[in-house]
Amino acid sequence: MPGAIYAEGLVKTFGDVRALDGVDLDVPEGTVLGLLGPNGAGKTTTVRVLTTLLQPDSGSAVVAGIDVLKHPNEVRRSIGLSGQFAAVDEYLTGRENLQMVGQLYQMSARDAKKRAGQLLERFNLADAADRPAKTYSGGMRRRLDLAAALVVSPPVMFMDEPTTGLDPRNRQQLWEVIQELVGGGTTLLLTTQYLEEADHLADDICVVDHGKVIARGTSDQLKARTGGERVEVVVHEPEQIGPAREVLAGYGKGEVAVAEHTRKLTVPVTGGAKLLAEVIRDLDARGVEIDDIGLRRPTLDDVFISLTGHAAEAAEGNGEDEDAVAGKPGQGRKSQKETAQ
Ligand SMILES: Nc1ncnc2c1ncn2[C@@H]1O[C@H](COP(=O)(O)OP(=O)(O)OP(=O)(O)O)[C@@H](O)[C@H]1O
Ligand SMILES: [Mg+2]
Repeated sequence: MPGAIYAEGLVKTFGDVRALDGVDLDVPEGTVLGLLGPNGAGKTTTVRVLTTLLQPDSGSAVVAGIDVLKHPNEVRRSIGLSGQFAAVDEYLTGRENLQMVGQLYQMSARDAKKRAGQLLERFNLADAADRPAKTYSGGMRRRLDLAAALVVSPPVMFMDEPTTGLDPRNRQQLWEVIQELVGGGTTLLLTTQYLEEADHLADDICVVDHGKVIARGTSDQLKARTGGERVEVVVHEPEQIGPAREVLAGYGKGEVAVAEHTRKLTVPVTGGAKLLAEVIRDLDARGVEIDDIGLRRPTLDDVFISLTGHAAEAAEGNGEDEDAVAGKPGQGRKSQKETAQ
């Protein structure tokens, strides 16, 4: 049985650009799919096709059990969408925007008002609730757009880069809202350029690049594909590199790599923390003094680079800089500190 979101062979071209080049998706009910990919990968195009806003050249899609191409209006009634480009009425206040959405969905005026109040609290917009949206900052607008998508809780939700441009506190809060939503049975397709977000929220991840799904699996499965875990040791004295290398070679599932100038040795292993304890005892027995030792697991960042040859993050700031890193191999990836907000 196909899942709550199902797509097969979606193709969409814009002139010479093959935005979607045969996308297949299957998202089981009540789960979160993270669609991960760099700028221009085809994430928004996928969302627009699945939410009936764009006709594909070929392929088929079923959302909430309804054929997207045959019955777009019915699909629209069963889904919620929060877009990369906010659909907020500038001249209405935040509160009015949310009430209007409620009434569009046939809520009574009283219910719509109540729901608007709850969401304004939830998204830290209560203080600005009665100001026109045109006076809102970028992050406030973003939150209002997300709140609007949550006025009714449809069985299937699409969120296109929901947390791009949000500060860490608001991002954290949105993650909580999303987890609650999914806990209540909603199926969610979420696009993101933040690897950490996919790691945190998604049950399954599809990595897209150039309109194709180039890898899929859970975060752990994708990480395992990238070579698994390593032990990293920094020895205190250059003379200790030799004995340390011998010890590590005994545990390694591959070559021991040595960076002489930093006195750092790295070896792929399996066995986790237990193995690490043994390595430490052995190094100690050989009289090797350790400055630093650790078990390093691959991050989704590593996965992304090994799959696509380039980093996932947009450039500086909030990730809205369109051309920043897209398709430029060799661009240095950003440090974990910068990306993991
Ligand atoms: N309406 C359009 N007309 C022409 N080209 C388009 C149109 N929409 C998308 N494209 C092209 O299709 C490709 C995929 O775009 P899409 O917006 O789906 O990427 P994305 O993964 O959402 O990127 P981003 O991370 O920047 O939001 C890009 O090369 C884009 O320039
Ligand atoms: Mg997009």
